[in-house]
Amino acid sequence: MKKITKAVFPVAGMGSRFLPATKASPKEMMPVVDKPLIQYAVEEAVAAGITDMVFITGRNKRAIEDHFDKAYEMESELEARGKHELLRLVQDTVPSHINCIYIRQAEPLGLGHAVLCAAPVVGDEPFAVLLADDLIDADPPVLRQMVEAFGKHESSLLGVQNVPFSDTGAYGIVSVEPDRHGLQNVAAIVEKPAPEKAPSNLAVIGRYVLTPRIFHHLRQVQAGAGGEIQLTDAIAALIEEEPVLAFPFHGVRYDCGSKLGYLKATIAYGRKHPEVGQAFTEYLASLNVGGRA
Ligand code: UTP
Repeated sequence: MKKITKAVFPVAGMGSRFLPATKASPKEMMPVVDKPLIQYAVEEAVAAGITDMVFITGRNKRAIEDHFDKAYEMESELEARGKHELLRLVQDTVPSHINCIYIRQAEPLGLGHAVLCAAPVVGDEPFAVLLADDLIDADPPVLRQMVEAFGKHESSLLGVQNVPFSDTGAYGIVSVEPDRHGLQNVAAIVEKPAPEKAPSNLAVIGRYVLTPRIFHHLRQVQAGAGGEIQLTDAIAALIEEEPVLAFPFHGVRYDCGSKLGYLKATIAYGRKHPEVGQAFTEYLASLNVGGRA
């Protein structure tokens, strides 16, 4: 069985829901408390044993490259000032055994096209895809749960979660059938169905483990809604050929691609932050908005 060593991070979207914050920098660089979303996602991949991080970048790519690069000037400045704790934070952004690879998606032609851009680097191996704006608080981290499940089933896996029927138009929605291995087989997948047309309310969340056969289907897929090449359409073709499993992960997911989800994440992570958590919780209580989630 092939081990999963590569994770793809599509970070080339427009991030239009967060304009003007995303005018000059990618939405994946937005911080939740003190860490950008993309760093949470990379840490999750590291915890799953992944060593090669493949970023699919677009315009404004520099901020992400700089974030994971060595910051010589800042490090020597912090060293000179004796700020060792901060120096460690800057140096630990990414562990030394990790490779960061950047591929440019020339035009934002959709999530499916972004994943296809990773094909030359991923090659003929199963790989993970993480959408950093889905921030998931989980122990063990979700991608680790999924990589372990892949070890047992050797099939593509889609992270899924029930959403309100009124929200199906924002997600890829799957219908499932029972599977003898305990996980459910994906029988069908549709992109952003209206509630009355949705086959279920089981939504695909931004975590995938995919077999390399997906690249074949991504090459065949025609541009769909909004002129974009949809990952969902390629997955729909993949399930005709090989099993694809729905993975109902354990964890709390924050949709940081939306303002409300981002604010909820900021509150949840702020309250448990080692430095400011207690004071922040007291502050929230003083506002009479409740001290607990
Ligand atoms: P979204 O559907 O969230 O789009 O993309 P977006 O552009 O990032 O944000 P909004 O909707 O305009 O506010 C899902 C993921 O796919 C990536 C995005 O960066 C995000 O991680 N993506 C999307 C690409 O990398 N390239 C694309 O062409 C489209």
